[in-house]
Amino acid sequence: MIDVRDLEYRYPDGTAALRGVSMHVREGEFLLICGPNGSGKTTLIRHINGLLKPFAGSVSVDGLDVVRFPEEVLQRVGMVFQDADSQIVGETVREDVAFGPENLGLSPAEVEQRVESALEMTGIAHLAEKSCHLLSGGEKRRVAVAGVLAMQPRVVVFDEPFANLDYPGVRQVLREILKLHEKGRTILVTTHDIEKVVAHVDRIAVIHKGELKAMGAPREIVPVLASFDVRPPRCAVAEEGFSSWLED
Ligand SMILES: Nc1ncnc2c1ncn2[C@@H]1O[C@H](COP(=O)(O)OP(=O)(O)OP(=O)(O)O)[C@@H](O)[C@H]1O
Ligand SMILES: [Mg+2]
Repeated sequence: MIDVRDLEYRYPDGTAALRGVSMHVREGEFLLICGPNGSGKTTLIRHINGLLKPFAGSVSVDGLDVVRFPEEVLQRVGMVFQDADSQIVGETVREDVAFGPENLGLSPAEVEQRVESALEMTGIAHLAEKSCHLLSGGEKRRVAVAGVLAMQPRVVVFDEPFANLDYPGVRQVLREILKLHEKGRTILVTTHDIEKVVAHVDRIAVIHKGELKAMGAPREIVPVLASFDVRPPRCAVAEEGFSSWLED
Protein backbone atom coordinates (compact mmCIF):
# COMPACT_ATOMS: atom_id res chain seq x y z
CA MET A 1 0.00 0.00 0.00
CA ILE A 2 2.58 2.59 1.14
CA ASP A 3 6.18 2.07 0.12
CA VAL A 4 8.94 4.27 1.45
CA ARG A 5 12.35 3.53 -0.04
CA ASP A 6 15.68 4.93 1.12
CA LEU A 7 13.99 8.24 1.86
CA GLU A 8 16.30 11.14 2.62
CA TYR A 9 15.18 14.66 3.32
CA ARG A 10 17.10 17.81 4.05
CA TYR A 11 15.38 21.13 4.87
CA PRO A 12 16.60 24.22 3.01
CA ASP A 13 18.61 25.29 6.08
CA GLY A 14 20.63 22.06 5.80
CA THR A 15 18.94 20.05 8.59
CA ALA A 16 19.14 16.36 7.64
CA ALA A 17 15.69 15.31 8.91
CA LEU A 18 15.51 11.85 7.30
CA ARG A 19 18.58 9.74 6.64
CA GLY A 20 17.53 6.78 4.52
CA VAL A 21 14.19 5.50 5.81
CA SER A 22 12.56 2.43 4.21
CA MET A 23 9.24 0.96 5.30
CA HIS A 24 6.22 -0.79 3.89
CA VAL A 25 2.73 -0.21 5.28
CA ARG A 26 0.08 -2.77 4.39
CA GLU A 27 -3.46 -2.05 3.23
CA GLY A 28 -5.76 -1.81 6.25
CA GLU A 29 -2.90 -1.64 8.72
CA PHE A 30 -2.90 0.60 11.81
CA LEU A 31 0.65 1.86 12.31
CA LEU A 32 1.96 3.92 15.21
CA ILE A 33 4.99 6.07 14.42
CA CYS A 34 6.86 7.20 17.49
CA GLY A 35 10.14 8.88 18.33
CA PRO A 36 11.38 11.85 20.36
CA ASN A 37 10.84 15.52 19.38
CA GLY A 38 12.65 16.38 16.19
CA SER A 39 13.27 12.74 15.21
CA GLY A 40 11.60 13.18 11.80
CA LYS A 41 8.05 11.82 12.23
CA THR A 42 6.25 14.83 10.76
CA THR A 43 8.80 15.08 7.97
CA LEU A 44 8.22 11.42 7.11
CA ILE A 45 4.43 11.60 6.99
CA ARG A 46 4.46 14.83 5.00
CA HIS A 47 6.08 12.81 2.23
CA ILE A 48 3.21 10.33 2.19
CA ASN A 49 0.73 12.81 0.69
CA GLY A 50 3.36 14.49 -1.44
CA LEU A 51 3.61 17.64 0.66
CA LEU A 52 7.39 17.29 0.76
CA LYS A 53 9.49 16.00 -2.13
CA PRO A 54 12.19 13.45 -1.36
CA PHE A 55 15.76 14.66 -1.47
CA ALA A 56 16.69 11.07 -2.34
CA GLY A 57 14.72 7.83 -2.43
CA SER A 58 11.00 7.54 -3.14
CA VAL A 59 7.52 7.19 -1.67
CA SER A 60 4.58 5.50 -3.38
CA VAL A 61 0.96 4.86 -2.45
CA ASP A 62 -0.88 2.05 -4.27
CA GLY A 63 2.13 1.84 -6.56
CA LEU A 64 1.74 5.53 -7.49
CA ASP A 65 4.85 7.63 -6.96
CA VAL A 66 3.81 10.64 -4.86
CA VAL A 67 5.89 13.07 -6.93
CA ARG A 68 4.64 11.89 -10.32
CA PHE A 69 0.98 11.37 -9.35
CA PRO A 70 0.22 14.08 -6.79
CA GLU A 71 -3.54 14.33 -7.45
CA GLU A 72 -4.17 10.60 -7.35
CA VAL A 73 -2.20 10.41 -4.11
CA LEU A 74 -4.09 13.31 -2.52
CA GLN A 75 -7.37 11.50 -3.19
CA ARG A 76 -6.08 8.43 -1.40
CA VAL A 77 -4.31 10.00 1.55
CA GLY A 78 -5.99 12.31 4.07
CA MET A 79 -3.84 14.05 6.62
CA VAL A 80 -4.75 15.61 9.96
CA PHE A 81 -1.90 17.96 10.81
CA GLN A 82 -0.24 18.60 14.14
CA ASP A 83 -1.26 22.25 13.85
CA ALA A 84 -4.98 22.37 13.03
CA ASP A 85 -4.80 26.10 12.19
CA SER A 86 -2.70 25.41 9.12
CA GLN A 87 -5.43 23.11 7.82
CA ILE A 88 -8.52 25.26 8.24
CA VAL A 89 -9.51 27.11 5.08
CA GLY A 90 -13.25 27.76 5.39
CA GLU A 91 -14.98 30.66 7.08
CA THR A 92 -17.55 28.56 8.95
CA VAL A 93 -17.13 25.01 10.18
CA ARG A 94 -19.60 23.71 7.59
CA GLU A 95 -17.79 25.51 4.75
CA ASP A 96 -14.46 24.22 5.91
CA VAL A 97 -15.60 20.59 6.06
CA ALA A 98 -17.25 20.93 2.63
CA PHE A 99 -14.10 22.30 1.01
CA GLY A 100 -12.41 18.92 0.40
CA PRO A 101 -15.41 17.02 -1.00
CA GLU A 102 -16.33 20.03 -3.19
CA ASN A 103 -12.86 19.87 -4.72
CA LEU A 104 -13.41 16.19 -5.53
CA GLY A 105 -16.13 17.30 -7.95
CA LEU A 106 -18.98 15.50 -6.14
CA SER A 107 -22.64 16.48 -6.54
CA PRO A 108 -23.95 19.08 -4.05
CA ALA A 109 -26.21 16.42 -2.50
CA GLU A 110 -23.28 14.05 -1.98
CA VAL A 111 -21.16 16.89 -0.50
CA GLU A 112 -24.00 17.80 1.86
CA GLN A 113 -24.44 14.21 2.97
CA ARG A 114 -20.71 13.72 3.59
CA VAL A 115 -20.46 16.98 5.54
CA GLU A 116 -23.42 16.09 7.79
CA SER A 117 -22.03 12.66 8.47
CA ALA A 118 -18.48 13.97 9.19
CA LEU A 119 -19.85 16.64 11.57
CA GLU A 120 -21.91 14.01 13.33
CA MET A 121 -19.02 11.56 13.64
CA THR A 122 -16.72 14.14 15.20
CA GLY A 123 -19.38 15.54 17.53
CA ILE A 124 -19.32 19.10 16.17
CA ALA A 125 -22.71 19.29 14.42
CA HIS A 126 -23.68 22.02 16.91
CA LEU A 127 -20.75 24.16 15.70
CA ALA A 128 -21.62 23.89 11.99
CA GLU A 129 -22.43 27.58 11.47
CA LYS A 130 -19.72 28.92 13.78
CA SER A 131 -16.77 30.88 12.45
CA CYS A 132 -13.64 28.70 12.49
CA HIS A 133 -11.37 31.34 13.97
CA LEU A 134 -13.57 31.59 17.06
CA LEU A 135 -13.10 27.91 17.95
CA SER A 136 -10.96 26.49 20.73
CA GLY A 137 -7.85 24.46 19.86
CA GLY A 138 -9.58 21.13 20.46
CA GLU A 139 -12.61 22.16 18.43
CA LYS A 140 -10.34 23.16 15.54
CA ARG A 141 -8.76 19.70 15.69
CA ARG A 142 -12.18 18.13 15.35
CA VAL A 143 -12.97 20.37 12.38
CA ALA A 144 -9.72 19.24 10.76
CA VAL A 145 -10.61 15.59 11.41
CA ALA A 146 -14.12 16.13 10.00
CA GLY A 147 -12.65 17.76 6.87
CA VAL A 148 -10.50 14.72 6.24
CA LEU A 149 -13.31 12.22 6.97
CA ALA A 150 -15.54 13.99 4.45
CA MET A 151 -12.98 13.19 1.75
CA GLN A 152 -13.29 9.46 2.56
CA PRO A 153 -9.63 8.72 1.84
CA ARG A 154 -8.33 5.13 2.04
CA VAL A 155 -5.32 6.17 4.07
CA VAL A 156 -5.67 8.56 7.00
CA VAL A 157 -2.61 10.01 8.68
CA PHE A 158 -2.91 11.71 12.07
CA ASP A 159 0.00 13.79 13.31
CA GLU A 160 -0.25 14.08 17.12
CA PRO A 161 -4.05 13.72 17.12
CA PHE A 162 -4.37 13.87 20.93
CA ALA A 163 -2.25 16.95 21.63
CA ASN A 164 -4.26 19.71 23.37
CA LEU A 165 -7.43 17.64 23.60
CA ASP A 166 -9.38 17.19 26.82
CA TYR A 167 -10.39 13.77 28.10
CA PRO A 168 -13.67 13.53 26.13
CA GLY A 169 -11.86 14.96 23.10
CA VAL A 170 -9.18 12.27 23.19
CA ARG A 171 -11.78 9.54 23.62
CA GLN A 172 -13.81 10.83 20.72
CA VAL A 173 -10.86 11.20 18.34
CA LEU A 174 -9.51 7.78 19.37
CA ARG A 175 -12.91 6.16 18.77
CA GLU A 176 -13.05 7.88 15.37
CA ILE A 177 -9.64 6.49 14.48
CA LEU A 178 -10.69 2.98 15.54
CA LYS A 179 -13.91 3.20 13.53
CA LEU A 180 -11.97 4.19 10.42
CA HIS A 181 -9.63 1.27 10.97
CA GLU A 182 -12.58 -1.13 11.37
CA LYS A 183 -13.90 0.12 8.05
CA GLY A 184 -10.68 -1.08 6.46
CA ARG A 185 -8.85 2.23 6.17
CA THR A 186 -5.09 2.27 6.51
CA ILE A 187 -4.20 4.42 9.53
CA LEU A 188 -0.92 6.07 10.49
CA VAL A 189 -0.68 7.90 13.80
CA THR A 190 2.22 9.74 15.36
CA THR A 191 1.97 10.36 19.08
CA HIS A 192 4.03 10.63 22.24
CA ASP A 193 1.11 9.02 24.16
CA ILE A 194 1.84 5.43 23.28
CA GLU A 195 -0.63 4.03 25.83
CA LYS A 196 -3.57 5.67 24.08
CA VAL A 197 -3.16 3.50 20.99
CA VAL A 198 -0.85 0.59 21.83
CA ALA A 199 -3.72 -1.88 22.40
CA HIS A 200 -5.11 -1.16 18.95
CA VAL A 201 -2.17 -0.80 16.57
CA ASP A 202 -0.88 -3.59 14.35
CA ARG A 203 2.71 -2.37 14.35
CA ILE A 204 4.94 0.32 15.82
CA ALA A 205 7.71 2.13 13.93
CA VAL A 206 10.40 3.94 15.92
CA ILE A 207 12.11 6.93 14.32
CA HIS A 208 15.24 8.30 15.97
CA LYS A 209 17.47 11.02 14.55
CA GLY A 210 16.02 10.60 11.08
CA GLU A 211 16.40 6.81 10.95
CA LEU A 212 13.92 3.96 11.31
CA LYS A 213 15.34 2.08 14.28
CA ALA A 214 12.72 -0.61 14.81
CA MET A 215 9.40 -1.72 13.36
CA GLY A 216 7.22 -4.60 14.44
CA ALA A 217 4.36 -5.82 16.63
CA PRO A 218 3.78 -3.86 19.87
CA ARG A 219 4.94 -6.80 21.99
CA GLU A 220 8.27 -6.78 20.19
CA ILE A 221 8.81 -3.01 20.07
CA VAL A 222 7.53 -1.81 23.46
CA PRO A 223 10.48 -3.32 25.34
CA VAL A 224 13.00 -1.37 23.23
CA LEU A 225 11.22 2.01 23.25
CA ALA A 226 13.14 3.45 26.19
CA SER A 227 16.45 2.86 24.42
CA PHE A 228 15.26 5.31 21.74
CA ASP A 229 14.12 7.96 24.24
CA VAL A 230 10.45 7.04 23.93
CA ARG A 231 8.46 6.57 27.12
CA PRO A 232 6.94 3.07 27.18
CA PRO A 233 3.18 2.76 27.75
CA ARG A 234 2.04 2.43 31.34
CA CYS A 235 -0.93 0.22 30.59
CA ALA A 236 -1.07 -3.36 31.73
CA VAL A 237 0.17 -6.15 29.48
CA ALA A 238 -2.06 -9.21 29.56
CA GLU A 239 -1.74 -12.56 27.84
CA GLU A 240 -3.93 -11.33 24.99
CA GLY A 241 -2.11 -8.01 24.60
CA PHE A 242 -2.16 -4.46 25.97
CA SER A 243 -5.23 -3.11 27.69
CA SER A 244 -7.15 -0.39 25.88
CA TRP A 245 -6.89 3.17 27.13
CA LEU A 246 -10.61 3.53 26.38
CA GLU A 247 -11.41 1.00 29.09
CA ASP A 248 -9.51 2.85 31.84
N1 LIG B 1 10.78 23.84 8.10
C1 LIG B 1 11.89 23.38 8.66
N2 LIG B 1 13.10 23.93 8.40
C2 LIG B 1 14.23 23.46 8.95
N3 LIG B 1 14.29 22.40 9.78
C3 LIG B 1 13.11 21.80 10.07
C4 LIG B 1 11.86 22.25 9.55
N4 LIG B 1 10.87 21.45 10.03
C5 LIG B 1 11.49 20.55 10.81
N5 LIG B 1 12.83 20.75 10.85
C6 LIG B 1 13.84 19.94 11.54
O1 LIG B 1 13.78 18.61 11.07
C7 LIG B 1 13.91 17.68 12.13
C8 LIG B 1 12.71 16.75 12.16
O2 LIG B 1 11.55 17.50 12.47
P1 LIG B 1 10.10 16.86 12.54
O3 LIG B 1 9.14 17.97 12.64
O4 LIG B 1 9.96 15.90 11.43
O5 LIG B 1 10.20 16.07 13.92
P2 LIG B 1 9.07 15.27 14.73
O6 LIG B 1 9.59 13.90 14.96
O7 LIG B 1 7.77 15.40 14.05
O8 LIG B 1 9.06 16.04 16.14
P3 LIG B 1 7.85 16.36 17.18
O9 LIG B 1 7.72 15.15 18.05
O10 LIG B 1 8.37 17.51 17.96
O11 LIG B 1 6.62 16.66 16.39
C9 LIG B 1 14.12 18.51 13.38
O12 LIG B 1 15.48 18.58 13.64
C10 LIG B 1 13.57 19.87 13.04
O13 LIG B 1 14.26 20.87 13.71
MG1 LIG C 1 5.97 16.25 14.56
